[in-house]
Amino acid sequence: MAKFAHDVIVPDAGSQLEKKDQVAHMFDSIAYRYDFLNRFLSAGTDVGWRKKAINELRQLQPEKMLDVATGTGDMAILTYHMLQPQHITGIDISNGMLDIGRKKLVEKQLNGHIELLSGDSETINFPDHTFDAITVAFGVRNFQHLEKGLQEMLRVLKPGGKLVVLEFSRPKNVLFKGVYNLYMNFIAPGFGKMFAKNKKAYRYLNDSVQAFPERQDFINILKSAGYRDTYYKTLSLGICSIYCGSK
Ligand SMILES: C[S@@+](CC[C@H](N)C(=O)[O-])C[C@H]1O[C@@H](n2cnc3c(N)ncnc32)[C@H](O)[C@@H]1O
Repeated sequence: MAKFAHDVIVPDAGSQLEKKDQVAHMFDSIAYRYDFLNRFLSAGTDVGWRKKAINELRQLQPEKMLDVATGTGDMAILTYHMLQPQHITGIDISNGMLDIGRKKLVEKQLNGHIELLSGDSETINFPDHTFDAITVAFGVRNFQHLEKGLQEMLRVLKPGGKLVVLEFSRPKNVLFKGVYNLYMNFIAPGFGKMFAKNKKAYRYLNDSVQAFPERQDFINILKSAGYRDTYYKTLSLGICSIYCGSK
């Protein structure tokens, strides 16, 4: 299996736990503040990014969908409102994140349309050719084995089905880069400490974004995992990107 630089970026380098367990524990510990910090740190921009990613599926009109690394379910909920598929399943390895997501589904009366299950992207508990479309927002960077996760998602896609990945990338503009680095290195971890009592989680955010394969590099990985008709779009001066591929 191919190894990538970010596979070894972990939340706590001193821990004996493998990356997957560290990531699950980290998200369990910040789950209660996750939605607030997402909106606050991105000044609400993440909602626009999510909408753009979901729009990549509008033409396909998917009925059966999977949201991988669903966390607190924001991507699944927005997808339901925008595309009204028959059913969305969200899977995640952090039960803390899923618990918050399930409460939101009850509040929004979306239980009949979306279900959130404990599940790992690297061993997806569904048969081959199950889903019309799969979304992953800010999840692939956290996988322990990126290639395995991408191959599993391809396995459970129906032929003709589409994967949409939304993930952070790095800006290219020299002037903007300075502001971006200051924000990611100091400001975001500072707010992470203040609001979620977890500076490490937001340090890990920056470290993993810095090491993650982006733009054409990520497209090449999608292609070698077996996806066809791949393409990407950058958003907000390149700090976020949408990647698509079909089966
Ligand atoms: C940054 S959060 C993104 C949550 C949600 N998709 C969103 O857009 O807000 C990353 C999520 O990926 C999950 N995750 C990491 N590795 C995973 C894996 N192998 N399988 C499933 N979920 C995973 C984490 O538990 C966490 O909830």
